Amino acid sequence: MTDDEAMADEFDTMAAWTADAVAELGPEHAVPAGCRGSGSPAALRWLAGRLGLGPGTRLLDCGAGVGGPAELAAREFGMRPVLAEPMLSACRASARLFGRPVVAAAGERLPFADGMFDAVWSLGVLCTAPDQAGLLAELRRVVRPGGRIGLVAYLRTVRRLPEQPEGNSFRTDAELAGLLSAARLGVLEQAELADFAAPGPDWQAAADRVDELIERRHGSDPRWQTARHQEQIIGRLISDGRVAGRVLVLSPA
Ligand SMILES: C[S@@+](CC[C@H](N)C(=O)[O-])C[C@H]1O[C@@H](n2cnc3c(N)ncnc32)[C@H](O)[C@@H]1O
Repeated sequence: MTDDEAMADEFDTMAAWTADAVAELGPEHAVPAGCRGSGSPAALRWLAGRLGLGPGTRLLDCGAGVGGPAELAAREFGMRPVLAEPMLSACRASARLFGRPVVAAAGERLPFADGMFDAVWSLGVLCTAPDQAGLLAELRRVVRPGGRIGLVAYLRTVRRLPEQPEGNSFRTDAELAGLLSAARLGVLEQAELADFAAPGPDWQAAADRVDELIERRHGSDPRWQTARHQEQIIGRLISDGRVAGRVLVLSPA
């Protein structure tokens, strides 16, 4: 199995299955099931506030996945997001669930003019991007001067990882600092993902119901098994403290 195949199982096939499951279970499941980068509504709200999202803000969600975070921001902060995501089934899933504009594009090659957005966020995407410096350069290019960039980055806290999900490359704190400095991005604020409140019971129950239905429908499919394997590895790395999520508010220098 190649890195691309494992990532497609995790981010493309699972996205389509998620949209199917939400269609069966009900729309109240869509946002919790559609948040895959941080899984934390508290962190998303904190970041949205720090990025100054509000009615009229032009927000790009780069690596939007199934689109849950952008939808939460749209509903709670009143702006209309644009989504970019390289996996076609994920683009279709977000369009089906939320009907927001979405383009199929990798973050390293965004099909937007310079300075087109007031704010850009990219959540849980950096470690999956083949060219992390290129991704950061593109986020910087498409945000307007004085605009803000939000990141959720998963960082390696140890020298070597005993295991790693296919296609992921976790940077250390120092490596991230080097990448940000090379992209001429300054850190305005940052917080550890683990310090935010866990999702409430209703949110968690909705996400769990979607996961359970997908497992009932597809649990014997090797693509589901690969996706679950990938998720279990990242879950173990985080619970062992070998990888930690950080939320960052950046500004072009
Ligand atoms: C962990 S998921 C996070 C999805 C979404 N941001 C969220 O928080 O729910 C990572 C996403 O990054 C996307 N991705 C992978 N490589 C990418 C790249 N080079 N540029 C942009 N997105 C990428 C994947 O397809 C996947 O949807």
